[in-house]
Amino acid sequence: MTQTPRVLGSPAVRREAADKVTGVARYAAEHTAPGCLYAWPVPASIGRGRITAVHADEVLALTGVHEVLTHENAPRLEPPDDANLAVLQSADVPHRGWYVALVVANSPENAQAAAGALRVEYDEEKPDVTLTADHPGLYTPQEANAGAAGLRERGDFDGAFASAAVQVDATYSMIALHNHPMEPHAATAWWLDGHLTVYDSSQGASTVRDTLAAMFGLRQEKITVLSEHVGGGFGSKGTPRPQVVLAAMATRHTGLPVKVVFPRRQMAAVVGHRAPTIQRVRIGSDTDGVIRALAHEVVTQTSTIREFVEQAAVPARIMYTSPNSRTGHRVTALDVPTPSWMRAPGEASGMYALESAMDELAVAAGVDPVLLRLRNEPDEEPDSGRPFSSRHLTECLAEGARLFGWQPRDPQPGIRREGTLLLGTGVAAAMYPVQVSASSASAHAAADGTFRIRINATDIGTGARTVLAQIAADALGVPLESVRVDIGSSDLPHAPLAGGSSGTASWGWSVHKACRTLVERLHGLVNELPAQGLTVTVDTEEEMAKESPYSRHAFGAHFAEVQVDTVTGEVRVRRLLGMFAAGRILNARTARSQFTGAMTMGIGMALTEGSHLDPVFGDFTENDLASYHVPANADVPEIEAHWIDEEDDHLNPMGSKGIGEIGIVGTAAAIGNAVHHAIGVRLRELPLTPDVVL
Ligand code: MOS
Repeated sequence: MTQTPRVLGSPAVRREAADKVTGVARYAAEHTAPGCLYAWPVPASIGRGRITAVHADEVLALTGVHEVLTHENAPRLEPPDDANLAVLQSADVPHRGWYVALVVANSPENAQAAAGALRVEYDEEKPDVTLTADHPGLYTPQEANAGAAGLRERGDFDGAFASAAVQVDATYSMIALHNHPMEPHAATAWWLDGHLTVYDSSQGASTVRDTLAAMFGLRQEKITVLSEHVGGGFGSKGTPRPQVVLAAMATRHTGLPVKVVFPRRQMAAVVGHRAPTIQRVRIGSDTDGVIRALAHEVVTQTSTIREFVEQAAVPARIMYTSPNSRTGHRVTALDVPTPSWMRAPGEASGMYALESAMDELAVAAGVDPVLLRLRNEPDEEPDSGRPFSSRHLTECLAEGARLFGWQPRDPQPGIRREGTLLLGTGVAAAMYPVQVSASSASAHAAADGTFRIRINATDIGTGARTVLAQIAADALGVPLESVRVDIGSSDLPHAPLAGGSSGTASWGWSVHKACRTLVERLHGLVNELPAQGLTVTVDTEEEMAKESPYSRHAFGAHFAEVQVDTVTGEVRVRRLLGMFAAGRILNARTARSQFTGAMTMGIGMALTEGSHLDPVFGDFTENDLASYHVPANADVPEIEAHWIDEEDDHLNPMGSKGIGEIGIVGTAAAIGNAVHHAIGVRLRELPLTPDVVL
């Protein structure tokens, strides 16, 4: 409707940018009601067993302590869908770090001191926290994360692999990864006149509200959950987490406002993590690299209280043509914290293994790795036979290779020296599914000519307010400045979480629909707009009920150049370039930020991030930012993110795919492949720290 220039796609500046850098933007722990109490959780100090005694009386005598909540006196809750939220409900300890008490005091310092002094006695059992490829507890689950089939078979993999001219059989392992958002999980809750108000650091306040209502037996209208600003989540805040349950319990129990902030060192055990995986990939091809047989078999772990299966074999169902394939998962329940979503769960791990194996095939078949992928490009989704709504992986590979300067490239590894450094380049493909779910939204036309959008979307740092304003302005045909967007409260129209790279698509669809409906109503007005304006509220249940006949995914290609120090074993990324096909890009500025942010996370996955489980104590050993190394500025080189202008009519009214997660998918494989090209040795475990490289 607008003429020039189109507001959708323009690099509009984040609406809350100034608020964030001046401290005006408030996060969950920064709302302090008068009389607010401070709570400090107490983690179990055993790897498995039962609580036999909690000596609460000793710490109740300490300065400033108001209350000690344990399984003996905490409010009884309805059993939640996610057993990880059933905190202080029983004496059982499923893993080390599981919360066994909550100390509530008049200051954070007094709460922390009392929590440290609390004596808890246990019946202790020896935990099993070690994943092995032949763990006796392994089984094939019905479903992996995101509803993926546990096992899929097509054709005759074993026969086709056995007779293939070129064979790759490689096993890759990754240890656990932690999301570690900048803002720890935090909640501030108060119970006043029968209404529960909670500021929670969450990726989706509507879900938190609904979960609290069910657990506390309250009507949804009696609860307001606010997540106005969220300092990252990467999936760890995609589901409600114990901080919000603990804060709600404590305010209900004490009648006073209570704040719970998880200390960084406790987070590894209670907010989910990327599960370790052991992935065997076998590829059989003709001499020219055309794949005949492909198997991707994943071994992973879950906890004893909830099944979560990292769906790492799923990308192999979508990426490359192979007439014979087996893709499956096996999982075992260990005495560990429950793994969960971490940026591109499934795809990030799975594409590390698959794209590393593709590089091994390129070497074995003597085919350039870019060309190898082009040769195995499918016409339709291999596993389902559905047509792709759009793909453009070949364009990403070709255009990325051109911009990166991929050729000329001598494929021989281990020969490019700069003093004590060895240099190499690597490539890997990326993919991430298009996900979208039902959302509601309202659009209001005010008598002064401005518009107001209301929707419980969440800004986890991505710029949700901004892009929703762009979508609304575009749909209304008005300047961006005349649209105001209210998000971040469960009192607003119900909306799904910021997760699965689906936020903008899901929210945007309902915002677009509300705005177009509003425009129609405004055109239909006989008289002037009434003084109170006009409001339209819609949802997209009907649109979501229609299942798309298309295979819908975003694709991309990563190119990396690395240097490997032959004396210290240190790997450094010199250049990283990503080329993406992700539908229409709705805001060039914030999209680039998401792509490069995820690629940076991919550098961490490849080189610095990793978390071991201590087999004796059952603990994650890297549980703070001093030992769990996220890339610092000096680790991050020039990162370039580019995209193809992709037109796809089978998505949503904006024509967008998700962009939050695809940036991390494939990055680690590109870096690992470059390391092989540099040193001539294939390393099959992440992260590639100096001890692994030397
Ligand atoms: Mo993302 S791991 O679905 O927040």
